[in-house]
Order: sequence, then C-alpha cells, then structure tokens
Amino acid sequence: MNDYKNPYIIEFPKIGDESIGYISVTEFNNNQLPFEIKRVYWTYNTAEFILRGRHAHYNTEQILIAINGKILVTTELANSEIKVFTLDKPNIGLYIPPHVWHTMQYSVDAVQLVLASTHYDENDYIRSYNEFKRIYSK
Ligand code: TYD
Repeated sequence: MNDYKNPYIIEFPKIGDESIGYISVTEFNNNQLPFEIKRVYWTYNTAEFILRGRHAHYNTEQILIAINGKILVTTELANSEIKVFTLDKPNIGLYIPPHVWHTMQYSVDAVQLVLASTHYDENDYIRSYNEFKRIYSK
C-alpha cells in the first residue's frame, strides 16, 4: 500500500510579461508531465456549494488546472492521509495519481482544465467512499 504515489503541484512555465500577458504550455517529453495525455476535459459554471469529484480511479492519472478562478482540491490517500490544495493560478497544476479519493470545490468563476492519462471509462471510477475505504484497507 505504501508504494502508491502522492499528489503534487506542477508549475508550468509562464511566458510573457504584464504588458502583453502570458502563455503557459506543456508538452509530453519535456520531463514535466508524468504521463502521456489521452484526454482533455474542462469543468465550469459550478456553484460554490457543490462538491464535485468524490471518487478515485483505478488507473487514470490527472492534472487539474484552474485556468480561471479558484479550486479547492481535497485528496485522501489509501493510507487515509488528507491534503488540501488551492489552485488559483493558471500556470499551476495538481497531479492526482490513481487510488486517490478527491473532491473539488469551485469559485463561481472557476474554469478547470483536466489533462488525463486515459480515455473515459466509467469502469475506472470508484464512486463509493465506503468501497474506496474497503478496497484500500486490505
Ligand atoms: P465526473 O467525472 O463524475 O465529474 P466530476 O468529477 O467533475 O463531478 O463526470 C460527470 C459526468 O460526465 C459523468 O456522467 C460522466 C461524464 N464524463 C464523460 O462522459 N467523459 C469524461 O471524460 C468525463 C470526465 C465525464
């Protein structure tokens, strides 16, 4: 159980300056992404009282980026360790490995971009918290 990976913050390059604005970028093979991207999706117009996520994945690795606004991400590892991350800069991402229960809360103006390592597959989700605890208590 101890060899599961931890979530961590990734700082993407921020090219430009105040007068012209910025570009942030990433590419596979630049040693920054821990996986090759297979899917990109984005989440927006989520009210502040809504908690999204509330699941873990068996295989999927993801990077969450607050392109606009603020996202509070709570992660719970298989060993029950809980961490809270604040994403509020468009050049900052949060890597979420497999086997990590995660929930997200968004500011009204938040736009979340997600880079994922797999194609969408509902069978890769663990959607029940009790099931998550049961699987990783073994
Ligand atoms: P879900 O991953 O549960 O969203 P969140 O974690 O943000 O609450 O997905 C919500 C719905 O969208 C669910 O019915 C599945 C669908 N969906 C896709 O069809 N493809 C995708 O790539 C994703 C991420 C979700």
